[in-house]
Amino acid sequence: MAKRTIVTLPGDGIGKTVLPEAVRVLEAVGFEAEYVHADIGWEFWIAEGNALPQRTIDLLAEHKVGLFGAITSKPKDQAEEELAPELCDKGFVYSSPIVGLRQHFNLDVSIRPCCSFKGNPLNFIRRDGDSFIEPPVDAVIFRQNTEGLYGGVEWTNPPEQVRSALETHPKMAAFKDVPSEDLAISTRIFTRPACQRIVRAAFDHAKKFGYKSVTVCEKPNVIRETSGMMRAEAKKIAADFPGIDLWETNIDAQMMWMTKNPENYDVLVSGNMFGDIVSDGFAGLVGGLGFACSANIGRELAVFEPTHGSAPKYEKLDPPIVNPIAMILSACMMLDHLGETDQAERIRTAVGSVVAEGKVRTYDMMRLTGGPGVFEKGAATSTQMTDAILTRLA
Ligand code: NAI
Ligand code: MG
Repeated sequence: MAKRTIVTLPGDGIGKTVLPEAVRVLEAVGFEAEYVHADIGWEFWIAEGNALPQRTIDLLAEHKVGLFGAITSKPKDQAEEELAPELCDKGFVYSSPIVGLRQHFNLDVSIRPCCSFKGNPLNFIRRDGDSFIEPPVDAVIFRQNTEGLYGGVEWTNPPEQVRSALETHPKMAAFKDVPSEDLAISTRIFTRPACQRIVRAAFDHAKKFGYKSVTVCEKPNVIRETSGMMRAEAKKIAADFPGIDLWETNIDAQMMWMTKNPENYDVLVSGNMFGDIVSDGFAGLVGGLGFACSANIGRELAVFEPTHGSAPKYEKLDPPIVNPIAMILSACMMLDHLGETDQAERIRTAVGSVVAEGKVRTYDMMRLTGGPGVFEKGAATSTQMTDAILTRLA
């Protein structure tokens, strides 16, 4: 079989640290591929006025699979200040390149598994009388990845046509005396096909891996139209999956329930914003950002990434302190996607065995405040963590 080509997008900050660690593990497990580097992130915004250069889009379009580290993103005004002087006033507008990537390629299904490793000192525990119990958490969040509050249809000081269109809605009467320059509007647009696709992906996953329930987590009692559409589609699609229960929760109540009984949840499905929230919440119960992996899946192309950002405060630390496991588990999701499930399982087993043994732990696993002093307290470097995982690869 021809070798696969994987587009690597390290991005900024610790993305540049963790991505090479994941590639080391992929090579050690015997995954045969060529890697091509692609530019993305803050330095390309500063130098070119574009954090997602066309050449990167072209590489992904050609090779179809990306492994992404993390990018630095900043608010609009700060972005303008940092742009190279010769590019100022040329009409460049900053937007997040990872959100742009998801939208450009319609990577509309985001999958974020949150599964606890035995022995992880960061696992959720619950008081039980005078002792503690540690229920295993195994939740998989399906987040609609392209629409909703992240769709980018928004204004401060909306144009007159937008304002008058909105005023056809009786509820806009509450804002009739507000000058347009004092109005900020972010839309939450859901489409039926995207709701159907994310819900179906969630049910398919539940069926394939034997999960008992799919929880649609929205807020249809208040956000009647968009959350209502997701709920209605979930009810229809659930009928095709006898034996898998459809549960419904509101995002606020869900955050409360998951911190009480996270083990009750299997597969969850949400729109973009609530999916982002609920997946970070579950990630916090299984080790936090150092363990949170994800996949962005479209019809033709897929990009795999840890859910953490570029952690700029740690980017210059040498040796690096950050946990590479989130990135390594994201690479496992890539292997699953490419049908190399045995390799993915071998890596996950190796990670599990390092975590269970507890001898090699990055600073986050020891609940230390990050900084160069973590090593004298016994923390492993990012490289040592990967080395430990490599020694366990069967
Ligand atoms: P962050 O995820 O970069 O860092 C938050 C904190 O989590 C860090 O200070 C660190 O303590 C911890 N952390 C993150 N990754 C870790 C790892 N692998 N091991 C151990 N600890 C880890 O989020 P923050 O600070 O809110 O954002 C920093 C930058 O990253 C911003 O510019 C933000 O826009 C960007 N960002 C990018 C994302 C992406 O590329 N997908 C996602 C989230 C934020
Ligand atoms: Mg997030």
